[in-house]
Amino acid sequence: MADQQTAVLGVWAGRSTFILAAAGSAVGLGNLWKFSFVTGEYGGGAFVLVYLVCIALIGIPIMMAETALGRQGRQSPMASMRKLARGSDVSRHWSLLGWMGVLTGFLILSFYSVIAGWALAFTWDLGVGNLRGFTGEQVGTHFDALVADPVKLTGWHTLFMVLIALVVARGVHKGLESSVRVIMPLLLVLLIVLLGYSMIATDQFGRALSFLFSLNFSTLTWEAVLAAMGQSFFALSLGMGAIMVYGAYMPNDASIGSAVMTVAILNSVIALVVGMVIFPIALANGVEPSAGPRLLFVSLPAAFGQMPGGQIFGTLFFMLVSLAALSSSISLIEPLVAWTVERFLMSRVVAATIVSALIWLMGMGTVFSFNVWSGEEYQCFGMTVFELLDFVTAKIMLPLGGLLTAIFASWIMKRSVIYKALNLSLARFNLWRALCRVIIPVCVCVMFAVSLYKALT
Ligand code: PHE
Repeated sequence: MADQQTAVLGVWAGRSTFILAAAGSAVGLGNLWKFSFVTGEYGGGAFVLVYLVCIALIGIPIMMAETALGRQGRQSPMASMRKLARGSDVSRHWSLLGWMGVLTGFLILSFYSVIAGWALAFTWDLGVGNLRGFTGEQVGTHFDALVADPVKLTGWHTLFMVLIALVVARGVHKGLESSVRVIMPLLLVLLIVLLGYSMIATDQFGRALSFLFSLNFSTLTWEAVLAAMGQSFFALSLGMGAIMVYGAYMPNDASIGSAVMTVAILNSVIALVVGMVIFPIALANGVEPSAGPRLLFVSLPAAFGQMPGGQIFGTLFFMLVSLAALSSSISLIEPLVAWTVERFLMSRVVAATIVSALIWLMGMGTVFSFNVWSGEEYQCFGMTVFELLDFVTAKIMLPLGGLLTAIFASWIMKRSVIYKALNLSLARFNLWRALCRVIIPVCVCVMFAVSLYKALT
């Protein structure tokens, strides 16, 4: 078993590896693209507050649970869950949790790749100078032309899926650690440069700050609360086994608590800084905060078009966005690839190719959501394929997966086993357990119940 395990998962050394891998998974389009536009759509400050509360009370404890389960199981999420369920004398059907995670990753990656394709397209356009001197409006027109063209979108989506397949075929740990070591610091530096620009050059910084941080609860609907909760799962990569897979690589002596806190804090800081960069630039260029998924793509290039060195900064920025999306995508696909290798005893190369091809095909639904299938006749519950996938994964599947993980770790597993696995002080362990046993189930179930009630009435 040990050999097979080593062959499937590879072995990682070093205490920082888990932090780097988990940060690579967490930091991606969720913070760089999605956080700002959902904050814009749901009205700002109050949404941000609920999001941060969800990270602290729901996200962090679940991330600790997922890491601990992965480290105890040391296999793909399905196999780990089966093993842990057997160890706890409960039904092996708990491995369905692993299955649901694999399906969730599959669905998320299908649309994630299309959006990452936009980032690749903008890297190219900025690099070759296609957007030089463009105003916000001109960038908007350029963006609309891109998404209206299914052939171009397919091309960029294909390129991104090929990149993922290449990386995953080589084995996840090779290169991931070192690339995250380069991407994260560069991204932070670039964000600080951009923050300086939005502070000095836009004269909208104050307005943007008050949008992001002043609490106006009148804009806070139940829908916004559900979205904030969903976003906290999406941003931390929780509820689908990604963190479980990385936990499986974690050395036994590394501290789960501090690793998880580091990732969660880094992730939230990045999301907030991106917000502080995007909103002033958007306001200064006549882009509404509620512009939706196009917010990042139509606001930042306008700033790059006007600032000195903008072409270089802009190209570098969108390149980093693409790379951050790549490291997140790897964690979305890895549970499925690990399982395919384990189950069919295939080589990684074949498994990665087949899985990527299937996700690519599914992704075409999202490609068409922005053009040929954008009409009402192609919508389901008033949503395009893209919107439906986003809704089902972020607002239902991830929270459900996270809820079941919390329940398994805190109610099903023997207290002594999970206590040892988490390796926390007794007081912290008790806090963790209370959150997972009571607070998380109550919050998630109330959210589900209210949303269902609203949907039916
Ligand atoms: N957390 C990633 C991001 O913010 C997306 C992701 C979600 C990755 C779920 C893995 C699992 O971009």
